[in-house]
This record gives sequence, C-alpha cells and structure tokens, in this order.
Amino acid sequence: MSINVLNITSSIFGESGVSSQLNDYTIEQIKTQFPDANIVNRDLAKDELPHFNAQTVAAVSNNEADLADTLIDELKAADLVLLGVPMYNFGVPSQLKTWFDHVARAGTTFKYTENGPIGLLQNRKVIINASRGGIYKDSGADTQTPYLQNFLGFIGLKDVDFIYAEGLNLGEDSREQSLSQAKSEVESTVAQFVKQHAKAEAEEAI
Ligand SMILES: Cc1cc2nc3c(=O)[nH]c(=O)nc-3n(C[C@H](O)[C@H](O)[C@H](O)COP(=O)(O)O)c2cc1C
Repeated sequence: MSINVLNITSSIFGESGVSSQLNDYTIEQIKTQFPDANIVNRDLAKDELPHFNAQTVAAVSNNEADLADTLIDELKAADLVLLGVPMYNFGVPSQLKTWFDHVARAGTTFKYTENGPIGLLQNRKVIINASRGGIYKDSGADTQTPYLQNFLGFIGLKDVDFIYAEGLNLGEDSREQSLSQAKSEVESTVAQFVKQHAKAEAEEAI
C-alpha cells in the first residue's frame, strides 16, 4: 500500500526551521508505515513563487497558468498534505499565502453554487506543523488557526490536524518541552492517519 504525500514547507530558515523539522519528523513516521510513500517536496521559501497578480489572473483565464496548474496537480494527487507553518508577524509566511493564492481556483479547487461555495478537494488529510515563538493556541490572538481552517475548508480540505510547537523563544526549557510534545503529537497523529487510511481502503475494496 503506497500513498502520495505533499510536503509543503515555508520556513525562511529552510531545513533548520522548526516547522520544516517537524514536517521531516512527520515524514519519518509516515515512512515507518508506508516505506514506499511517494513524497513531493515544495519548499516555498527556497523556490519562491511569483506573487499572484493581474497577469496571473489573465494567464488562468487563457489556460496559460502552468505553474499554478502544477501546484494544483500536486495538491490533487496528494493523499496527505503536510503544511509547515511558521508564525511570522502574527500571520503565515507570505510565501505560503502566495501558494494559497495560486491553488484557489474557481471551477477547479472550489465552485460557487446557489447554496454557496463548495470545496472540490475532498478526501485528503492535512497535518499542520505550526511553529511559534510565543504562545497563542486557543486564544483570540491566534488568528492563524481560524484563517488556515477557513482557507483549507473553502477548497474542501476539512480534515485538518494542527500540531503546535509554541513558546519556542521563551527560553530553553520551554523550547525543549514544546518540541518534545510536538513530536509525540506527530506520532499519534500519524498513527491515527494510518488507521483512517486503512479503513478507507478497506471500504473502497468492498
Ligand atoms: C520575522 C519573524 C517574525 C516572527 N513573528 C512572530 C510572531 O508574530 N509571533 C510569534 O510567536 N513568533 C514570531 N516569530 C518567531 C517564530 O515563530 C519562531 O522563530 C518559529 O520557530 C518560526 O518557525 P520556523 O522555525 O519554522 O521558521 C517570528 C520570527 C521571525 C523570524
């Protein structure tokens, strides 16, 4: 049994970013269960996407948005999407926001109906590794989490698990404790995904 994993990272610190390292750890865990997992890496900070602008809108209308088409195809092909999401200045990295701009496309990843918008990318799991210098989880100051839920839900990605590594800049003890808790949450989240995936496969086989 193999699966397709889309590994999206957006830390400006590349592979040493905490969110990137947690994505790597998630992949390690996935590979213990799916040794043949097909991993597609998208490092949005290393290979920055061009801003979404009027030319991009025109290219989409003319069927010439090759880069956005590739990004959407990667997303459609994924059984599991890993999102490494650092908090920079209370929001998501602008590189990640740009990826969102490219993959949100009417008629392809969502559509408008008489009853409102419908997301077209269902049946995919998303695991978010959120890294933060301070502590925001479950407080009104965490504007990242509802934003991510809204955006992903809009394109149909409603099965989203958040793993938080918070308090990373609040001293060594806080950082160590947070990293070790995040890693154990990665382990349990992957274990749950493996069960869920096996169940879905069994149901499909019937
Ligand atoms: C430019 C910049 C802005 C940041 N802004 C915030 C912030 O608004 N809130 C916060 O809690 N931490 C903030 N931090 C700390 C980061 O969230 C923390 O370093 C985290 O590890 C970043 O994830 P990464 O290591 O995956 O890049 C900021 C860090 C940088 C470099």
